[in-house]
Formats: sequence, C-alpha cells, structure tokens
Amino acid sequence: MIIYKKVIDISIFLKNKRRSKQDIGFVPTMGALHKGHLSLLENSLKENSLTVCSIFVNPTQFNDKADFEKYPTTIEDDIAALEAVGCDVLFLPSVEEIYPDNLSPEPYDLGSLETLLEGKYRSGHFQGVCQVVDRLLDIVQPTTIYLGQKDYQQCMVIQKLIQLKNSNTTVFICPTAREITGLAMSSRNIRLSQHGKEAAVAIYNSLLFIKGNSNYLSLADLKNKVETKLLQSGFDSIDYVEIADGTTLESISDNTSSSSKVALIAAFIEGVRLIDNMVIS
Ligand code: PAF
Repeated sequence: MIIYKKVIDISIFLKNKRRSKQDIGFVPTMGALHKGHLSLLENSLKENSLTVCSIFVNPTQFNDKADFEKYPTTIEDDIAALEAVGCDVLFLPSVEEIYPDNLSPEPYDLGSLETLLEGKYRSGHFQGVCQVVDRLLDIVQPTTIYLGQKDYQQCMVIQKLIQLKNSNTTVFICPTAREITGLAMSSRNIRLSQHGKEAAVAIYNSLLFIKGNSNYLSLADLKNKVETKLLQSGFDSIDYVEIADGTTLESISDNTSSSSKVALIAAFIEGVRLIDNMVIS
C-alpha cells in the first residue's frame, strides 16, 4: 500500500491512473477502523482497479470540542488492517493539507437535512462533513465513493453534495456492520466499557421492536416505549427516537403516511453518543 500525506503527490499519482482509465473506489474515514470500514473497502476492492482510503479526523465536523479531542486514533493498527485487506492507497493528510488557506467556505444548501435529526442536535456538523468530503472528492475524483448505512443522514447529505457539485461520482451505500450482539460497529464503541457495550445493544433491539410492531402500535406509542426501554437499559439520555420518511427524513406521525420508512435513534451511554437506524419499509 502506498501512503500519501501531500495533496500534490496523491493528485499526480491518481491523475496517471485516471489517464489509464482505471476505476477508482474511495472510502473516506476518520480512522479507528473496524469491520464496518473493512466491508466498505472490500466492496471497493471488488469493483475497482484501485482503492483509496483516507484517514482524516476532520475538525470542522465536530460541534463538540471534547468529542473531537476524545476521538480515538489507532493509526498503526489502521495501517496494518488496510494492508491486510489489500487497500492500494492510503491518503493521510494533515489539517494544513486539507484546509491550506483557512478560509470559511460558502455554506452548502442542504435544505431540511441540515435542521432535522443529526442536523438539529449537531449544529454545523453536516457543513463540516460537506467541507471535507468536497475537498476529498476534488483530490481523489473517485468513480465511486463507499459509505456505511449506519450514518443514514450523512449518506443523504453526501448524495446531496454530489448533486450540488454536478459530480459524476456514484455513491454506494453498504449495510451497517454489526457485532454478533447486534450493536452497530462504530469507532466510538472503543470508548465504552464491556458493560456499556452490552447495554448499548438496547438501541438495536429497539429498532427491531419498532420494525416488528410498526403495524400494531401507533408511532407515538412505539417511540414512548422505546425511550423508556433505552433509559431503563442504562442510556443516560436520548437525543431522538424518530420514525421518518426514508427519502426526506421528515418525521411521520401515522403508519400509513409514507411508503418508505426508517427508524433512527441517537442516544448517550457512558458519555458516548451512539446512532443507529433501520429501514422499516
Ligand atoms: O463518517 C465519517 O467517518 C466522516 O464523517 C467522513 C465521511 C469520513 C467525513 O469526515
């Protein structure tokens, strides 16, 4: 695997690859790689002649400074995991490489995606995600970008960004990778104790409960029961339990109002904010 730290170096390398008509698959990450990331890489490796992974903990997408400071970094292990899976290129830039002129970017028009759910609870987060992904897409110019369904709203935001930029990059969304218990894999899980990890499975069980009962209970009842269950299971607080239209993420209030539904949860356990989702219909 070749590791590039400078934009100029990776740009020259990729320009040559594009000239020889190679398909470039791209997996952007913030490191602390787990099996979920590796499944994105495996998909990319299967479908492209060249796979690029980036590791960059993007400061502009953290609305909470403490969360940024506590974000896990496991670079040696990450490099070993990327080598083992057969990744071709790792892009490992510094903040100065990604944001050389320290300018505030023009805001991206994300519509209601910016104010709903994650947008509401993490002000500015998606502008930061767009800022870094825009820059990374400019540098890598991939044929396909691989994203995980765990970040359902982020997938929608990046699809919107690609549309705003009139980019030719295709978005490939891979299913959420889960532990055997059902807990969604996340770099943040590293910060949980063993007990916390066991208790956190309540999010997955709640999503299953919503999916299994959405035809029998009112959506308000489902949300109330799930909120109570999460708090009883050891969650400290809940940002949202939402049942939303899968294409707009607008909240839905009755079972019949939308043909595509997704349940989404964000909640804190042991001071760690976890998110997960499940498509219901
Ligand atoms: O999902 C992530 O890890 C990040 O939000 C991303 C897409 C790499 C942008 O920093």
